Amino acid sequence: MKYVLGIDLGTSGTKTVLFDQEGHGVCSATVEYPMAQPQNGWAEQDPADWWHAAVSTIRTVLEKSGVDKKDVVSLGISGQMHGLVMLDKDGNVLRPSIIWCDQRTQVECDEIHEKVGKEKLISITANPALTGFTLSKIMWVRKHEPEIYAKCRHILLPKDYVRYMLTGDYATEVSDASGMQVLDVPNRCWSKELLGILDIDEALLAKVYESPEVTGHVSSEAAALTGLSADTLVVGGAGDNAAAAVGTGVVEDGRAFTTIGTSGVVFAHTSKLAIDPLGRVHTFCCAVPGAWHVMGVTQAAGLSLKWYRDTFCQAEKDAAAMMGCDPYDLMNQQAAQSPIGANKLLYAPYLMGERTPHLDADCRGMFFGLSAMHTRRDMLRAVMEGVTYALKDCLCVLEGMGATPETMLACGGGGKSPLWRQMLADVFGLPVATTVNTEGPALGVAILAGVGAGLYPSVEEACRAMIHQNPAQMPIAENQPKYAAVYEVYKQLYPANRELFKALAKL
Ligand code: XUL
Repeated sequence: MKYVLGIDLGTSGTKTVLFDQEGHGVCSATVEYPMAQPQNGWAEQDPADWWHAAVSTIRTVLEKSGVDKKDVVSLGISGQMHGLVMLDKDGNVLRPSIIWCDQRTQVECDEIHEKVGKEKLISITANPALTGFTLSKIMWVRKHEPEIYAKCRHILLPKDYVRYMLTGDYATEVSDASGMQVLDVPNRCWSKELLGILDIDEALLAKVYESPEVTGHVSSEAAALTGLSADTLVVGGAGDNAAAAVGTGVVEDGRAFTTIGTSGVVFAHTSKLAIDPLGRVHTFCCAVPGAWHVMGVTQAAGLSLKWYRDTFCQAEKDAAAMMGCDPYDLMNQQAAQSPIGANKLLYAPYLMGERTPHLDADCRGMFFGLSAMHTRRDMLRAVMEGVTYALKDCLCVLEGMGATPETMLACGGGGKSPLWRQMLADVFGLPVATTVNTEGPALGVAILAGVGAGLYPSVEEACRAMIHQNPAQMPIAENQPKYAAVYEVYKQLYPANRELFKALAKL
């Protein structure tokens, strides 16, 4: 039996899963790390934390599984997108990584639009300038930390930094590179024109591959540290959402999934390039060579519930520790005791600004309608419903572009909650299913690794053979109008507060 390894470098931790060649998870390990918020709206992580987490989780799965390292033919890495990693000429990290949810770069985004022209930018990168994307972060460092920029010789994305540490190669692949905003997304290569206008040296950027292509193999130093064989091949891998698409079989037209991870995503595959002229959803190259995906992103999906857990749910955390269960299970039970609409309490999940559909780095989260009768149960339910409405906003934009899924797959930590899945089914008006294997992004990149190593003929064929769905949760007819009435109020929260968010940001 041959094996493939999937490494998923998330925002809250790195999860590594060893799969056999039939796609069965053999062993998995996770290591968490912190996110620093040095100022309101900023978010940074230490690339060393990602590397240590990768080494430790790879070692653990190899040791625990007892699988012979020679049988691990290949590995793939998936990861949080957009983060900026800057290295000097010797490959040393120059500053903490400014990650995807950091919102400090609105001025640089305005500058990009001014210099390039918004329409031209969208025609090349398929997206307007966004604070989350890498390009504006590069320009922020150039302006605010010129001494660091002067020393920078290599710019990498988070997962590509781990690849570099594993292999010594400076490489990336099209799905993650699409989120840097310097890739020509229709033609799947760096845009010389854009780099020229913005005076960024192409030599700073890594070589671009298709996601299942082999980019190198494990170095002897990394082999000694991780317990892997130096013969293990490393493939391009994919950004977390493109990887989740492969791991849930969303690799053909008409298929879609929703993730409730730290961020929330509604994702649809498309074999034809489709771009929202208003730039409210992203169009990226997907992990299937020659195809794309469109996706709407809400910044703080699981992050909202995690924030609520860590700020208000010490009692559930203590009880869960005593009972040996997950605090989220207890929080779900509490939320289920509040009715639809949480007794007229709404939550807007804009803790880290918002992308789809508002594209506003300054907006902030809020509870709306608090009354003395509300309990933490209502607040919990309001948080889960608010995230669901933000995902409905994403779906509405995709539907407006002609992507009209008939069923939805749910994944990510939040997708494991039957209560949250039922909310999605009722609010989307679609059957919501899960896949039998829930390792999403890790399985996705393991499949890409298998394709790269020649174990499977193509991404689509591997998915058809290996990904299976559980029965779907259907929308409940009597719930739908109740949610729809609350959604009507939710939709007005952002426009009603837009100017106040700006005033707040200026304080
Ligand atoms: C996608 C995005 C997030 C991050 C973190 O554009 O920003 O999905 O990749 O998960």
